[in-house]
Amino acid sequence: MNSEELIRLTYANHKMILNDFDFVLFGGSGDLAMRKLLPALFSCSVAGSFPDTARIICIGRNDWEQEDFHREIDKKAKIHLKKNIPDTASWQTFLNRIVYVRLDADDLGSYPALVAAVRDDAAITRVYYLATPPGLFSKICGNLAASNLVHKNSRVVLEKPLGRDLASAKQINAEVGCVFSESQIFRIDHYLGKETVQNLLALRFGNVLFEPLWRREWISDVQITIAEDLGVGTRMDYYDTSGALRDMLQNHLLQLLCIVAMEPPTSIAPDAVRDAKLQVLHSLRRFTPTTLAQDVVRGQYRAGYIEGVAVPGYRDEADADPHSRTESFVALKTEIDSWRWAGVPFYLRTGKRMPDRLAEIVVRFKPIPHSIFAQDSNSFQPNVLVIRLQPDEGLTLHLMAKTPGDSMRLKPVELEMDFLETFRAPRMEAYERLLLDVLRGQLTLFMRGDELEAAWEWIEPVLNYWEQNETEPLPYTAGTWGPPAASALIGRNSLQWREEVLPQS
Ligand code: BG6
Repeated sequence: MNSEELIRLTYANHKMILNDFDFVLFGGSGDLAMRKLLPALFSCSVAGSFPDTARIICIGRNDWEQEDFHREIDKKAKIHLKKNIPDTASWQTFLNRIVYVRLDADDLGSYPALVAAVRDDAAITRVYYLATPPGLFSKICGNLAASNLVHKNSRVVLEKPLGRDLASAKQINAEVGCVFSESQIFRIDHYLGKETVQNLLALRFGNVLFEPLWRREWISDVQITIAEDLGVGTRMDYYDTSGALRDMLQNHLLQLLCIVAMEPPTSIAPDAVRDAKLQVLHSLRRFTPTTLAQDVVRGQYRAGYIEGVAVPGYRDEADADPHSRTESFVALKTEIDSWRWAGVPFYLRTGKRMPDRLAEIVVRFKPIPHSIFAQDSNSFQPNVLVIRLQPDEGLTLHLMAKTPGDSMRLKPVELEMDFLETFRAPRMEAYERLLLDVLRGQLTLFMRGDELEAAWEWIEPVLNYWEQNETEPLPYTAGTWGPPAASALIGRNSLQWREEVLPQS
């Protein structure tokens, strides 16, 4: 099967007739555009999801001609196409959709160039994708409004970071909200576009099996981990002002937590799902001075080895501040104060330069109340459901089963489901799915303004505590699972992170 057939197959079930559109990409020559957005748009385009006349208008500050920009995409975006290099004809068809417009996003005087580039027809969907620093969001929206570029069929997509604390998030919401109504604003969190996240909805609400057990009576604890083996790479400029809490926990991990913990929404409609997620955020236990000191672990990697290759420490990375106190790891314990979850600890953890790239949700059930077998109930391992998002996508259910033979001995076994093998169909990348959702105006997988603010409100005391106490991150060696304090955190409840209980290979 060649690469194009593969893409068409991926989209076979998603074939849709989209309204004609102009997709305006601010930050059109930036890193995100080249690595993720243009490759994703290419896949959608090859799959035949786009109307012939649909266009992609890339905005940049460089004084390039059309051909210069096309060469730039050839050089920087093509290598990120996951589904092999396209044939020349379809790549050319894609390039033909792309128009480059030189514009200074914060200079109203340069907007006539954009006015001239978009089609002046309110029946055509117009998407403004702001892949720019958040400091420019309000300015761009204001300039769009002042240039009369926003109509009822316009949408705006905001890339993270969506603020750096509650006040800045509120400011973004308010200023963007002066130009676009809430139903026109798409706050992107690419984790919500991952296949397994949606499978989690299917697992919980498409089966009767789990939902009755999905509560404090049967669940002992939940762990959510997003680990990366990569370091900060070339993003030190951004990362050092952000850190793991702002970069990953405030958004991706909290969104996963919401989907695990939310009450059944009344439907899959955007506000039904977003109301249910908001309720979780409002029910998260607030931190106190004691829990801030005890239940949050902050770490920063030191030099070490990843798969046998020596890697530098955080403070020795390119462009690093040698005294930086930015965390590259965070682990915390929280609880959800609700009838469903009272007393169940939720552990969230993320870090860079950990041993593997891994994202998973681990739901541990309570032990059996009594053993009817000769075997002591302590030798029974509690059931565990592992939902894997990365590197592969799947589910593993850990059960106890009888070993063959005439004695009644039980041992742990695994029921395994690999999504790729089960469906034998190629997947869509998170950004492909989310961009199509933007184009068809489907908001379910995007954060609402109040969700964003509730997440910042909950996390902000941690940021303030670190700042006020000038908390030094604890060192951990690259290639390990974070500082020992992270094991101690979960150990206080006599629990262990999942890799600590796995047999060592
Ligand atoms: C981004 C963060 O949102 O997510 C990055 O800014 C991180 O620091 C990335 O590397 C991880 O995404 P994924 O999909 O590769 O797990």
